[in-house]
Amino acid sequence: MSVLAQAGHAQHDSATDKILRIGIVGLGQASGLVLNWERQDIRTLPIRFTAACDLREDALAQFAKEYDAEVYTDVEAMCRSTNVDAVYISSPHELHLEHTLIAARNGKHVLCEKPLSLSVEEVDAMIAACDKHGVHLIAAHSHAMDAPIRAMREVIASGRLGPVRHINALNYNFFNAQPWPTRELQMWHGDLYNQGPHQMDIIRYLGGGVVKSVRAHTWWDHLRNVEGGYSAYIEFANGAAANALFDWRGYFDSTCYTFNASEGGWAQDPGSGWFVRDNMKKLLAEKSPEDAEAELWKLKNDLRYGGINDNESFQRWGYAPVTPGFEPFAEPVQPFFGLIIVACDRGIIRQSLEGLYIHGDNGVEEVVVTGHSGRAAEFMQVYDAVFNDTPSFHDGRWGKGTVELCQAIEESAREGRPIDLKYQVAVGDEPA
Ligand SMILES: NC(=O)c1ccc[n+]([C@@H]2O[C@H](COP(=O)([O-])OP(=O)(O)OC[C@H]3O[C@@H](n4cnc5c(N)ncnc54)[C@H](O)[C@@H]3O)[C@@H](O)[C@H]2O)c1
Repeated sequence: MSVLAQAGHAQHDSATDKILRIGIVGLGQASGLVLNWERQDIRTLPIRFTAACDLREDALAQFAKEYDAEVYTDVEAMCRSTNVDAVYISSPHELHLEHTLIAARNGKHVLCEKPLSLSVEEVDAMIAACDKHGVHLIAAHSHAMDAPIRAMREVIASGRLGPVRHINALNYNFFNAQPWPTRELQMWHGDLYNQGPHQMDIIRYLGGGVVKSVRAHTWWDHLRNVEGGYSAYIEFANGAAANALFDWRGYFDSTCYTFNASEGGWAQDPGSGWFVRDNMKKLLAEKSPEDAEAELWKLKNDLRYGGINDNESFQRWGYAPVTPGFEPFAEPVQPFFGLIIVACDRGIIRQSLEGLYIHGDNGVEEVVVTGHSGRAAEFMQVYDAVFNDTPSFHDGRWGKGTVELCQAIEESAREGRPIDLKYQVAVGDEPA
């Protein structure tokens, strides 16, 4: 067993480091994850949350109290603050473009939640504005940034197993059965534009970045009356290929294939998926469409920053166990965004609870992985871009490639033919 050093960002010394001052746009669920759940990891970073902007007064009041920081109801006003270096945009998808343009013209670097936007044309406008004003645009939130996925890429880039031949990515979850408001699910086409970017980012990152074409197939979720999943066959310019499968209807949870570990690295109670889906079935059957929608917004609000955040609301979303006697992990393990298996020319790489298994000609080696995952890794990408002149590959152009691929999945399924891609960019670390 060996420990793989993480190359994601430089080591930091809290006594001497510069501090990156971050203003948050949108204190919703995503920010709740950053400020509450992921806080243990994020609070060790050389960053500070110095401002936040939202329209919800209760969330702003809690943030001001908890962080002794500036609060705003107007994004432009926050972006004029001299106490903000970079802006974390976690407002709804349809506002990402507008909020990025405001941040850029006020000279603030941007870390923007996935998907960067809902069309490649909008992402182009975001890139152009950030280029014009000389600020970095980095795409968040991506499970490609998780430590085990970055470690897989390190093994690939080292060349020790030869080129990537095939990637298998499989994920069955219960996203659509969670209490998302229907209007949002329709805008996201189910989970396609919400968590689809995670899976596409992982595949693109491990395959080197440049997808040549995709042939896809989608299916319907009769419970929520939106898209229920996709399968896609993806071909890369470098000759690698990938199979992606993602079904988010809640009939089955593939964490049973990932040592029961979830995308956050906590133990997933196998009973949660059924519990969440059953709640959704009852809610939609018992209430009028208007009352059901109002209830869904209320339930969404429970998990936002400043919301209720109690055990019942966590259960309702599937984030707290429901099965009596279910044993959570003593400590979080590595995050798993479904099952990811990479076949290289001379071996196979897959995740273990602590890092990776590398199956080679001489047997199986387990590699323990350290380093930040998720948003902690992403905040450090912004930090390193701003202070250490280390640009992130996961920038606006990369995010545009991921939006293009999600759109191509939809187009291929609709038209029943392969779609060629035009805006793909390379990771840039292929072995010679
Ligand atoms: N919910 C999650 O668990 C999650 C996880 C990862 C990524 N994301 C991404 O984060 C983004 C936000 O999603 P969310 O689920 O947190 O949504 P949300 O609706 O919970 O939060 C959005 C917040 O933005 C605020 N807002 C709306 N308009 C605003 C404006 N004009 N100015 C300032 N604030 C405004 C809302 O009041 C709300 O608090 C999305 O792009 C989503 O894909 C969400």
